[in-house]
Amino acid sequence: MDRLMLTPVIRGAYLEAARAPVILLFDKDERSDLPELTLSGPGALWHGHGSAPAGAFDSDHRTYTAEERAAEDVVGKQAREALQALKDADGALPSGVRVPGYGSFFAGSTWDEADAARRGETAKLDVRVPAGREDTVRGRIALVTGGAQGFGAEIARGLADEGAFVIVADINADGAEAFADELNAGGPVRAASLAVDVSNEDSVRKMAGSVADIAGGLDLLVSNAGVLRAGSVLELPYRDFEFVTKINYSAFFLVVKHSSPTMIRQRTSCPSWTADIIQINSKSGLAGSNKNAAYAGGKFGGIGLVQSFAMELVEYGIKVNAVCPGNFFDGPLWSDPKKGLFIQYLNTGKVPGAKSIADVKAFYEAKVPMGRGCEGPDVLKAILYCIEQDYETGQAVPVTGGQIMLR
Ligand SMILES: NC(=O)c1ccc[n+]([C@@H]2O[C@H](COP(=O)([O-])OP(=O)(O)OC[C@H]3O[C@@H](n4cnc5c(N)ncnc54)[C@H](O)[C@@H]3O)[C@@H](O)[C@H]2O)c1
Repeated sequence: MDRLMLTPVIRGAYLEAARAPVILLFDKDERSDLPELTLSGPGALWHGHGSAPAGAFDSDHRTYTAEERAAEDVVGKQAREALQALKDADGALPSGVRVPGYGSFFAGSTWDEADAARRGETAKLDVRVPAGREDTVRGRIALVTGGAQGFGAEIARGLADEGAFVIVADINADGAEAFADELNAGGPVRAASLAVDVSNEDSVRKMAGSVADIAGGLDLLVSNAGVLRAGSVLELPYRDFEFVTKINYSAFFLVVKHSSPTMIRQRTSCPSWTADIIQINSKSGLAGSNKNAAYAGGKFGGIGLVQSFAMELVEYGIKVNAVCPGNFFDGPLWSDPKKGLFIQYLNTGKVPGAKSIADVKAFYEAKVPMGRGCEGPDVLKAILYCIEQDYETGQAVPVTGGQIMLR
């Protein structure tokens, strides 16, 4: 059994025993000073199970069969019981365990606490049980694709400020790293970065594995990476249509396919644990967009995926929702001085009579009943709502200042 598959199972055992979120770090040394978490040969259990094809159980696998899930359930139950048995007389959990054949795992309420355990500075887990709404994402592990700039960066910053550990994944690897560094500057470690091309399956699979390696599991996937190539159906080259569709539509399938197994594995050892997948969709996923069919079509399709994934993954305690923002006028997509939509629309005369960027902006703001564009905190509130609300899934939540009203 692959370590990256075992890691979320061990984290789940901690979630179950602590009744609180934990970050889980790994060290390949089997540290003799740690209590042993005895699993009766997870490798043998996994590989000996049923008629699974050879090689199906390594981290390169592309299918995730019912047989694998059944085998993982057995390991999950073992891990849960084994960790419970390691509680001391006061009910405290060890902050680290040794798993023979794999290495050592270290838990903490924050990344810094887990790292202190890894350095041997603490022996008991300091549990912080969520107290209320302000703890909706505290200690939870979030992955934000396209998190280096724009809405993704706003969401990542907002989640980190709310106490989550955030993994910023972007095709712009340098930008993602610089942004994670900025989130960590002068304070606790609350972010990490990964390079990913969400439209490439190998890249997405590697990202999913790295997430388990960085923080031990995954509680929130924000599928945000997106692109826009506007144009008339009469003029837009098909390659542009395909480019937009691959990133805005097909890639959502890929990130869910490869990230949800981590969420499912956690649940084998913590059956009450829930996780969330949120697609950053658009108002253009709820109403057509003139001369912007590639974008709107992919976003409409995203709602279909959200509803379908929601129906399927509810069995594993995973809610799947879409957040549909209105135009983010202050973000780079609109405001970039060279490539932004404002300067493009000004130069191409798309807004009749507009003589400046301010005129173009005023034209679009006037379409919004609330008179302004959508901003990061507006989107963050909708995300927090989706997570906190445990009696809803498969929804598309508009955040458009009233520009789109659901029927
Ligand atoms: N900006 C808006 O007005 C607006 C409105 C509604 C919805 N949205 C949606 O919000 C999301 C973010 O949009 P934004 O305006 O912040 O865009 P943006 O262009 O500012 O940022 C997008 C980020 O995604 C990354 N990215 C692009 N292709 C990628 C790929 N293949 N793999 C990984 N990362 C990739 C980029 O490097 C960038 O960091 C998109 O899904 C978009 O459709 C945007």
